[in-house]
Amino acid sequence: MDKGHLLYEGKAKALYSIPEQNWLWVEYKDQATAGNGERKESISGKGQLNNLITSVIFEYLSSEGIPSHFIKKLSDTEQVIEKVDMFNLEVVVRNVAAGSFSRRLGVSEGTVLSKPIVEFYLKDDDLNDPFINDAHVTALNLADEAEVSELKTKALEINHALKKMFDKADITLIDFKLEFGKNSDGTILLADEISPDTCRLWDKNTNNRLDKDVFRHNTGDIIPVYQEVLDRLTQLNK
Ligand code: ADP
Ligand code: TMP
Repeated sequence: MDKGHLLYEGKAKALYSIPEQNWLWVEYKDQATAGNGERKESISGKGQLNNLITSVIFEYLSSEGIPSHFIKKLSDTEQVIEKVDMFNLEVVVRNVAAGSFSRRLGVSEGTVLSKPIVEFYLKDDDLNDPFINDAHVTALNLADEAEVSELKTKALEINHALKKMFDKADITLIDFKLEFGKNSDGTILLADEISPDTCRLWDKNTNNRLDKDVFRHNTGDIIPVYQEVLDRLTQLNK
């Protein structure tokens, strides 16, 4: 299998074609961004940790009957994934109030929600990924009604599986962001990444932050924190 040409370079990953396959070669970068790219830093080892953590999580989800675009890990910083036609949406699931939810609604960080919430955001950096509802999603043809319903069901199933896994690792899954796409058969597949960049993860006993909020709020070095997440998840398989 050969690495083809660069198709897209984003904030966290670069995507390359794989000639004669409907697959992509992904490179996880060391770049960390906050505030929609306003703050940018290169943090050595971040790409490797996110690639390894995402790989462990997608393998776990597959073992729980939840397929994704993940095909295989190629190296410490590279993966092969199935190319999909992405929904231009970020799907956020929240179990506990934090971040923009707390700011917008005045709910204290750490308040446990009586049931998980699924939210949609339009994936558009120029507009700062605005919060939208189901009516916006269907009226703007970002997904049809059946797809909206399927995205929500899948997001909640993934939440159920992830909460179980993180709980065993003594981590509370506060919230996280998912992206989905459709493969060549029209099947909706979980795509992109699931890592401490895209989740809020709090230590179950101390509530210490084990995620990108450490970078967003400048409270420390993310490398030992992400390494801790990887070590705890790897330990579960032993
Ligand atoms: P961003 O585009 O927000 O800067 P990244 O640097 O993570 O983010 O870039 C990865 C890009 O690849 C994202 O835009 C994401 O939507 C897209 N993507 C993720 N998985 C797939 C896939 N299986 N097929 C096609 N595109 C994908
Ligand atoms: P928020 O509280 O800032 O809306 O974030 C909710 C979750 O989504 C949190 O776990 C971080 C994640 N997220 C991303 O992965 N990418 C983004 O662009 C945003 C805004 C949030």
